[in-house]
Amino acid sequence: MNAKPIITKPDHVAIVMDGNGRWAKSRGLPRVAGHRSGVKTLRKLIEHAVRIELNTITVYAFSRENWQRPKKEVDLLMDLFISALESEVEDLHKNNVRVTFIGDRSEFSNKLQNSINQSESLTSLNSGLCLNVAANYSGRWDIIKAIQSIAQEIESKTLAVDDINEKLVSSKLSLADYKDPDLFIRTGGEQRISNYLLWQTAYTELYFTETLWPDFDAKQLDLAIDWFSKRQRRFGKTAEQLEQTQN
Ligand code: IPE
Ligand code: IPE
Ligand code: MG
Repeated sequence: MNAKPIITKPDHVAIVMDGNGRWAKSRGLPRVAGHRSGVKTLRKLIEHAVRIELNTITVYAFSRENWQRPKKEVDLLMDLFISALESEVEDLHKNNVRVTFIGDRSEFSNKLQNSINQSESLTSLNSGLCLNVAANYSGRWDIIKAIQSIAQEIESKTLAVDDINEKLVSSKLSLADYKDPDLFIRTGGEQRISNYLLWQTAYTELYFTETLWPDFDAKQLDLAIDWFSKRQRRFGKTAEQLEQTQN
C-alpha cells in the first residue's frame, strides 16, 4: 500500500529569495531594480501565506556574506530595507502578521535598527502569520553565538558539559521558539544553502526552482507546497514503519 502523506501543509517555510540581480540584468536594468521587484514579490507571497494560513515563514533577506558586494549595491539595499519596512509594516500589522528579525542587527545603521525594532514592537502581539526576516544572518554565525553562550555558562559553572544536548543547542539558536522549517524553497536555480539555517534544516525538505525571485508568485508557492505534500518524511525510519503507524 502507498504511504499517505503525513503532513499536507508545511507549518514553517524557509525561503532563499535569490535571483533579483539576474532578473534585472536580463531586462537591462540595474541590480537594485531587481531588489525592488523582489520586495513586491515578498509582499504578494505574504498575502498568499496569510490566505492559506501558513504558520511561519522565514526569509533570507541579507546574509553576512552579502556585505562583500559593491558598496553601492549594499547601500541601496539598506535604503530599500528601510523604505520597505516603513511602507509595509502597517499592512502587515493589519493582516495580523508578527514580524521578527534574526541576525546581527547591531551592524546596521541606527535608522534601520529603529525601523526593525519598531516593526517588531508594533506587531509583537499579533497572532497570525509569523514572518521572520533573516538580515545580517548566517547559519555559522548562529551556531558560533550558541557555542559562545554555552561556553560562558560552563565557565561560570551554571552548566555542566554533560548537559549539552540537541535541545539545549536548539534553545540557544535563532528561531529557538519555532519548529524547524518543514520546507526550504530556493529560487534562482542555485542548489545550495548559502549559510542559511544550517542547524535548523537538518530534516527540512529542500525545494529548488529555476524561477528568479521577482517572478515567483502565489501559484508557484502552491506548487512547492504540493511537492512537499507528496514527500514522505522518514526522519531516519523506514517507509514500512511509517505505513504501520498510519494504518
Ligand atoms: C538575492 O538576489 C537578494 C540578495 C542577496 C540581497 P541576488 O542579488 O543574489 O540575485 P542574483 O543571484 O545576483 O541574481
Ligand atoms: C543568498 O543568496 C542570500 C540571500 C538570498 C539573501 P546569495 O546570492 O548571496 O548566495 P550565493 O552567493 O549565490 O551563494
Ligand atoms: Mg544571488
